[in-house]
Amino acid sequence: AASTRYEAESATISQGTVANNHSGYTGTGFVDFTNVAGSYVQFTVSGAAAGSVTLTFRFANGTGTDRPMSLSVNGTPAATLSFPGTGSWTTWKTVSAPAGINPGTNTIRVTATTANGGPNLDSLTVQDTVTSPPSSA
Ligand code: GCU
Repeated sequence: AASTRYEAESATISQGTVANNHSGYTGTGFVDFTNVAGSYVQFTVSGAAAGSVTLTFRFANGTGTDRPMSLSVNGTPAATLSFPGTGSWTTWKTVSAPAGINPGTNTIRVTATTANGGPNLDSLTVQDTVTSPPSSA
């Protein structure tokens, strides 16, 4: 299945800054959310066709406290995702969720739900769930 990575530092950021002070990120940095509920990052994702995809967020959380965020797809709330501690700010892990997207432009937004804000967010990878036909071998 095909996958595309979208860097958080290139997305639309509300109440957060682009930072690069903790190593291990892809691209040129990551988003450091302001420590406030309501801070968000919104990705613009191109869909080839209507269908189900897997969204994978890469993040670091150097604290011992979960930093949950609500996920919305094209403005519709889809889930609340857990971003638990990863052990350090330089240890990056992933959390995934399914989503249905449309052909053309889609907006994928994650919004911090607690006063701690979100984790440090590196990227979103969108993987389509089309499976290859079985091999005839
Ligand atoms: C530290 C860390 C930041 C992080 C912040 C936070 O300041 O260096 O990268 O974003 O904690 O708690 O959100």
